[in-house]
Amino acid sequence: MPSVTYIAADGTQHVLDVPLGENVMRGALYNDIEGIVGECGGALSCATCHCYVDEAWAAMVGQPASKDEDDLLEGVSSPRKATSRLSCQIVMTAELDGLVVHMPDHQY
Ligand code: FES
Repeated sequence: MPSVTYIAADGTQHVLDVPLGENVMRGALYNDIEGIVGECGGALSCATCHCYVDEAWAAMVGQPASKDEDDLLEGVSSPRKATSRLSCQIVMTAELDGLVVHMPDHQY
């Protein structure tokens, strides 16, 4: 099972196994990781699953998957960066084993 490292704004790190086909938001929620809220459950309507993909993984993960994701990223509570993504839209693949994401200071 691929792993994801979630790094909180204060530097706290959690390394979790996230099943193939599952998204990065749910990986955090199922393990009670603070910093990703996922209020809409992945329906692409809340943007409370905002994360910053680590620079080393940015090319692999890519840009916003859809115009809807891109639009929602315009309204995130923490600053949008070049590596900002909605974690519910990042689906785990074998190639993403070892992915590192940083969580913003706040989601509201
Ligand atoms: S969980 Fe709501 S947009 Fe990702």
